[in-house]
Amino acid sequence: MSHAKVEKNVGLMIILVIIVISFGGLVEIVPLFFLKDTTEPVQGLKPYTALQLEGRDIYVREGCYVCHSQMIRPFRAETERYGHYSVAGEFVYDHPFQWGSKRTGPDLARVGGRYSDDWHRVHLTNPRLVVPESNMPAFPWLEKNILDDKMTPKKVRAMRTLGVPYTDADIAAASEAVKDKSELDALVAYLQVMGTSIKSR
Ligand code: HEC
Repeated sequence: MSHAKVEKNVGLMIILVIIVISFGGLVEIVPLFFLKDTTEPVQGLKPYTALQLEGRDIYVREGCYVCHSQMIRPFRAETERYGHYSVAGEFVYDHPFQWGSKRTGPDLARVGGRYSDDWHRVHLTNPRLVVPESNMPAFPWLEKNILDDKMTPKKVRAMRTLGVPYTDADIAAASEAVKDKSELDALVAYLQVMGTSIKSR
């Protein structure tokens, strides 16, 4: 009887559907906030150094995430190509995460250590010099732009407010650590640490 009432009353049906879906969503999402697997850093995960953090900002500014994901799925085709699949605990210091959703280029989640610093410098300045068939854009200005070291301590402090365990000493040393470094230095430092908290190959 009462079921017939719901079926005939669209307003009531909408409200009940919303309640059911919200409840289902909460049951799936809320436990993730309390699971250690998703909230605790993997063993050996270090917060980004000041230079790597600056590099990460360049990565975001240049839109590298538009063509590159940082998320290896747990499928054989992916792990054979890129290394160990990504786990949530690798990203707890990433604000915001750079998982991405489009792969025009390869996944970069474990690119750290795969190439030399020099390879990256040449590749970012003109990809065609090391990968002739590449259609990745060139970023020649990164080498010329010098980082603004006044901003760096503020960025480190902002990360601390989001829960990344930086010390006062880290914040005090941040300016000096990036002084006179180019955007290219920072981006390469960031690329080289990517995914290295889990040994993959
Ligand atoms: C328009 C798409 C596009 C954008 C934007 C882009 N890339 Fe690429 N990237 C590619 C493609 C395609 C390749 C594969 C060919 C090559 O190695 O150059 C690649 C390759 C790479 C590789 C080598 C990966 C490997 O495992 O061999 C790195 C590192 C890289 N890109 C970093 C970056 C960074 C950092 C940025 C931002 C500054 C960026 N890319 C922006 C398309 C892009």
